Amino acid sequence: MHRAKISVIGAGNVGATCAHWAAAKELGDVVLLDIPDKAAYAKGKALDLLCCGPIERFDSSVIGTSDYKDIAGSDVVIVTAGIPRKPGMSRDDLIQTNVRIVKSVSEQIREFAPDSVVILVSNPLDAMVYTAWKATGFPSSRIVGQAGCLDVARFRTFLAMEIGCSVEDITALLLGGHGDDMVPLPRYTSVHGVPVSQLLDAKTIEACVKRAKGGGGEIVKLMGTSAFYAPASASVQMAEAVIKDKKRILPCAAYCESEFGVGGYFVGVPCVLGAGGVEKIVEVELVGDEQKLMDESISHVKDLVKVVTEMFPELS
Ligand code: NAI
Ligand code: 2OP
Repeated sequence: MHRAKISVIGAGNVGATCAHWAAAKELGDVVLLDIPDKAAYAKGKALDLLCCGPIERFDSSVIGTSDYKDIAGSDVVIVTAGIPRKPGMSRDDLIQTNVRIVKSVSEQIREFAPDSVVILVSNPLDAMVYTAWKATGFPSSRIVGQAGCLDVARFRTFLAMEIGCSVEDITALLLGGHGDDMVPLPRYTSVHGVPVSQLLDAKTIEACVKRAKGGGGEIVKLMGTSAFYAPASASVQMAEAVIKDKKRILPCAAYCESEFGVGGYFVGVPCVLGAGGVEKIVEVELVGDEQKLMDESISHVKDLVKVVTEMFPELS
């Protein structure tokens, strides 16, 4: 039987927590890679995690490294390398630093894990997905960004708190970029099939939308750095869909041409995620203000991609 392999680039808060979830779910063997200066740090975290195996009952191997040869044969590579934001910073403030990091990481992935599905996490997310697509040269179906799974989980959490129901019973839809202009869609949100508008008044739903949009910022303010438990959980949810070829419909930053009027960018949309990566974009009807909000979000993503291509014209 094929034993899956998941490599995580960046052994910081999000990366190490991705390794944790992936091992705990026994998705496959896990490689945790960081820069050479942090090789020992990555090895230490990996060893610590490996020793959870007898308790949590997983037999996956977990190794730490700074050598890209160790990612060879990966089915999935999760990229978390880069700086996170500090209080007062937006995700966009990270672009100058992170585009350089994600470009160099992507070039290594192209060389050492040429058949992998790559899940980007580094921010500003939508521009980093684009960077990885260009720098790897992989088909767009094998490059996907994690944002929507996290943002929608936050939205579901806040709705469940208001309704007083299980988070499990809430299904919600969210589109757009991973910025404060992301587009949660209450019209496509239900509690075990019951439209959320029948359970909460418009003002409360709007408050949940606002809190989901600012959810990352709320945590940065509390912790002094960005969130990692839920971001890692969301990233591993996507990795699991790929490794198990689950064909899950999840909100991911995927390459869209005519879909949703995107015009050749990576933006958050519902996708079928399976062994091939993004196997299909699920286009849904938008009415009223929904398309306008989506257009505003797309326009923001385009501005970020412009910064990338101005810095590195070869990524145009
Ligand atoms: P962190 O600072 O804890 O870890 C980042 C790690 O990346 C560090 O260990 C660093 O040494 C490593 N790194 C830097 N350059 C590298 C390179 N060239 N190769 C390999 N590793 C390298 O940061 P944290 O909290 O883990 O966040 C990582 C990124 O994820 C940030 O850009 C953050 O904004 C983003 N993020 C994205 C989310 C999303 O939903 N898309 C959610 C949360 C964070
Ligand atoms: C978040 O939403 C910072 O993107 C990160 O928590």
